[in-house]
This record gives sequence, structure tokens and C-alpha cells, in this order.
Amino acid sequence: MCGIVGYVGNKNAQNFLISGLKRLEYRGYDSAGIVTLSADGEPTLLRAKGKIANLEEKLAKNKRDDKIGIGHTRWATHGEPSETNAHPHQAGNIYVVHNGIIENYKELKAALKEHEFKSETDTEVLAALIESFYKDGKYPLSNAVVQALKLVKGTFGIAVVSTKTPDEIVVARSGSPLVIGVGHDETLIASDASALVGHTKQAIYLNDGEVAHVTKNSVEIKTLNAEPVSAKVEEIETNLAAIQKGGYDHFLLKEIMEQPESLKETLRGRVNLAAGTVHLGGPGLSVAELRQIKHLVIVGCGTAYHAGLLAGYYIEQFTPEITVETVIASEYRYRNAYIPKDSVALIVSQSGETADTLACLREIKKQGIKTIGIVNAIGSTIAREVDGGTYVHVGPEISVASTKAFTSQVVAMVMFGLTIAQAKGVKPGTLRPYVEEIAKLPEEIHSVLDTVVEDVKKIAEAHKDYDHAIYLGRDTAYPTAMEGALKLKEISYVDANAYAFGELKHGPLALIDDRFFEMALLPEGDLYDKAVSNVQEVLARGGHIIAVTNVENFDLPVESVVKITTSLEIFTPILMNLVSQLFAYYMTIAKGYNVDQPRNLAKSVTVE
Ligand code: G6P
Repeated sequence: MCGIVGYVGNKNAQNFLISGLKRLEYRGYDSAGIVTLSADGEPTLLRAKGKIANLEEKLAKNKRDDKIGIGHTRWATHGEPSETNAHPHQAGNIYVVHNGIIENYKELKAALKEHEFKSETDTEVLAALIESFYKDGKYPLSNAVVQALKLVKGTFGIAVVSTKTPDEIVVARSGSPLVIGVGHDETLIASDASALVGHTKQAIYLNDGEVAHVTKNSVEIKTLNAEPVSAKVEEIETNLAAIQKGGYDHFLLKEIMEQPESLKETLRGRVNLAAGTVHLGGPGLSVAELRQIKHLVIVGCGTAYHAGLLAGYYIEQFTPEITVETVIASEYRYRNAYIPKDSVALIVSQSGETADTLACLREIKKQGIKTIGIVNAIGSTIAREVDGGTYVHVGPEISVASTKAFTSQVVAMVMFGLTIAQAKGVKPGTLRPYVEEIAKLPEEIHSVLDTVVEDVKKIAEAHKDYDHAIYLGRDTAYPTAMEGALKLKEISYVDANAYAFGELKHGPLALIDDRFFEMALLPEGDLYDKAVSNVQEVLARGGHIIAVTNVENFDLPVESVVKITTSLEIFTPILMNLVSQLFAYYMTIAKGYNVDQPRNLAKSVTVE
């Protein structure tokens, strides 16, 4: 969602702000803006609706060699995407950029009679509120920010500058991430460390309820209650290559194709093939604690939710006396669900910042339930607040549609399930096939990606005029179908929905006509024959089926077939999901849409 950048130092601030905002583009936004201040406090405010390219057009006519500034990409919440609603927002001498939502902005606005509001945003209310404490020299900038934030209800990550003191930035966070990059004679601000890569490796991650006063040579952090905080400087692990396209046309294709490598990173040091076991250090649960687990709650949104659903099917296969409930975070946080004491919750999130998932984590912790993070972004809020965790280590995922994170989330959760099963004394013979297949997965993914890509491309192009699709699967292929349908709808705007094959007769069969095509996931196995009967039912009603299967002698009269050759038996659905990922990619290209930044969506949903 929204992105924040800031700069104070000896270099050209406009340059850093624009390049930093471009790094954050992937998060999703619909307007952008920057303000820089000259040495005597003269502001240059540039804002534009739409892409950063529009902002750059304005910049071309307003180049300044200012050394301090703040910038923002806005994903509209209060008020439409427009130049007036774009950040930074001004009140008197103050300029503010803000991520998050000020929930009590209406009450605050009503009391701010002196400010003439220009935008419909909650952020301008915040700017006016800070200014009300700042004007007339009542408070220095950082104190004025603190006074204002004490009155605010909601979530925020903010950066504030004043034309009266063009050598300082004040930043603060509550529920919306902020990172301070410590450079040589410069300090950089970003809502996501990827904007800092290539500038500095030293970062301070602000915690909720902290305010930092930043100059080019100093970072002073306090809590909102004015208690000093000693800053912990951490190393940024991401390198430039990880956030570039690396020869691919789009991040999405790069991220699909790099799954053999990204999954190897997830597995590194965690699989002992000789012993047929897995070892996860991060969860930090003793064997006795693992043995007691009877119930797993898996919480996530979007793709992370689907990963949890699929992992749940697997974990129940090999773990005795365990129930797995996978839940959508935005629903679960408001349910009055009782969680049995012998439960552990898996909190699944690529970004580690999703607002609803974070809220669930906090609710679940209040009930005294152990929480384990399945997170990608190192140092993210969820990663820091869980009791233990397993990083998936897939590196930055830039494309809004999640691909490589899904694969690794499923495998990381299955490994956590195997850890429980090992502790419960499940026979090695039961678990070994899972461990062996996990170890083989990177190679299998590599060979499937290699062999199916041309077929999938052709089939996707042939289906480019469809606007409706049905994805079908049974058992582990069902959550896989759900994820496939999500990929297609996210980026190609096809109205795609997934159904369990067994549900066809309970409604979806009524849909079958020439407006729809059906993607049938048909892995070999016990339920294959049942799925084939369902395919026959669709064929009998004139369905347009694309079958994805690893059955060698597959001979159903469907319109298209994607054949997968694999030695896997258990994790075939993960391979089938690669087909869905590629299909969505090529369909989107054929339809001519923006692959990496689909309309209306954000990579990291940090507001409810
Ligand atoms: C957004 C993204 C999805 C992602 C979901 C959950 O909707 O566009 O790709 O699956 O959020 O995000 P998380 O970072 O918590 O995994």
C-alpha cells in the first residue's frame, strides 16, 4: 500500500525521493508526491495523480538541489486518487506524509477551525493538528508531533518536515512500518527497506509508539511518553539484484521462474534426508510442547490463506490427533472463536505487515496461545511480535500477485507439521515420503517450469477473450485451484472462482456455458477417478476444459491438456500451481494489462 521515503544529507533529495518511490511502486498506489526544502526553508511541493512518471514530468520543470525532503505514494482510502488528495499535505509551515488511517479524523477536523482544508484526507487533519501545536513556536517540531499523535486514534507511519527548520525530519509509527537508514552524513527514511538498498546497509526499524528525530548525522528515538529508546542498528540483507528484474520483462515471471532457488533457501539447513527428518530452529518449542499440540489455527489473507489451507490438508494426513483450522484473518479477528489451550497458531504473511493478520496475532496472543510466524520479510512487525517463527527466505517479492512466497509458505508449514509429527513419535516410515518429496521439490519445480511454459503460453493466448473461469480440484488440488483462480482474477481481471469438484452439482454446474472455461486440476491418486466423473459431467454440458494432470494415459476429450511429468506423488498440486501461475501471467500479457501492478490492488495491505 502507501509508501514513505525521506532524505536529509548532502546529496540531492529529489533524486533519492523519486528513486526510492520507484522502489516502493510494487506496493500499489494511485498518486505520488514529494516536498523538498531549500537551505533557507523554501518548499518545492510536487504531486501528481497516477504513476510516478507523471510526477517526474512535473519534476523536470522544477528541479532543485535541495538536501532534505519527504515523499509518498498514496493508495486512496479517504478521498479519490487526485493531485489534491496526494501527499505531502501542508498546514502552515508543516508538511506531512502518512501511511495508515486516522480513525477519529472527523472529530479532530471539527475542532481545527483555523485551518482551511483543501483535501478530503485524514492526513491533512493530522498536518493541521501538528501545526496547531507548532505554530507560534509553542513546541519544537518533534514535541508538536508527539502532542498531536497523543490525540490520534488509528494507525500511522508518518514523516514530517517544517520550512522553519530545514535540517530535521520527525518520523513516528504505530501499526505502519518505518525504517531509518543510517548513512555517511545522510539519513534516509522509508516504509520498506527495499528503498534503502544500495544507499546504506545500516537500518533502524522503528517500533510501534516510537518517535524519531532525524538529522543528517543523528537519530534520536523516544516513545510517545518521552522515554528515550536506544536504537538497535540492524543489517539490511537484501541486495540490488534481488529487487531488479534480472533480464525478465516482469517481476512476476522472474518470481515464478526463480522458485527452484527460492525454495532451496526455504529448505536450507532444515532437511536431513539421510535421517528422513526436518529441523526448524525458529519456532522455539520443546519436544514436550510440540507433543501436546492438538489443534493448529492457521491465519492469513489472500495467497497466504490459500497456502495455509493447502498445508492444513497435508498436516492432517501425517499428524495423528490434530485438527487444523485455516482462517481468513479479516473474519477471524471479529469472530468470538474459542481456541483450545493445546493449540498453536501459525501466522502466515509474506510482508509481515498485513493489518488483519497482525490484528489476529495480537488477539490470539491475548488468549495465551503460542504464535509461530511463517513470514518472508525479515524484521517485519509480525516477525517481531510472534513467539517464534520460520522465515521462508524467498527474498523480496515485488510483483503484487504472490507466487514464490506461496510455494515456500506451504512447504514451511508442512515442515512445521512434520516437526510436530516427529515429536509425537509418528513412524519414520510415514514421514519419510514427505521429507523425500520436499527435498526433491526444487528440482521438480525446475523441470516442470522448463517443460510446460510454451504449452501454457499457447493455451493462455487461445483463452484471452474469456472473462469467466472456473477452477476445479479435489482434496489438496482444491486449495490449489483456489490459489489458481485468485492469480487469474488478480492480474487478468477474469472473473475466476474455484470450487471443490464435489460441489459442482450443488450450484456451479448451472454456470457451464460458452462464457466460461474450466481449469481442472487432476493429480493422479485415490480421488482421481471421482474427479474424472466430475469432468465428464462438465463435458456433457458443453464445458471448455483445460486439464492439468500428471496421469500418463490421460485421454479425456477435453479442449486442452497441460501434462506434468513428475516422480512426485504427494506434492503434485504444488507443481500444478506453477501452471496456474504461468497461465495467469500469459493470459494477462495477452489481454494487455499491467502484470506486476494490477489495478486497485496493493502488495502489502496495511489498513483494514
Ligand atoms: C495482498 C497481496 C497478496 C497477498 C495478501 C496477503 O492482497 O496482494 O498477494 O497474498 O495481501 O499478504 P501477506 O503479505 O500477509 O502475505
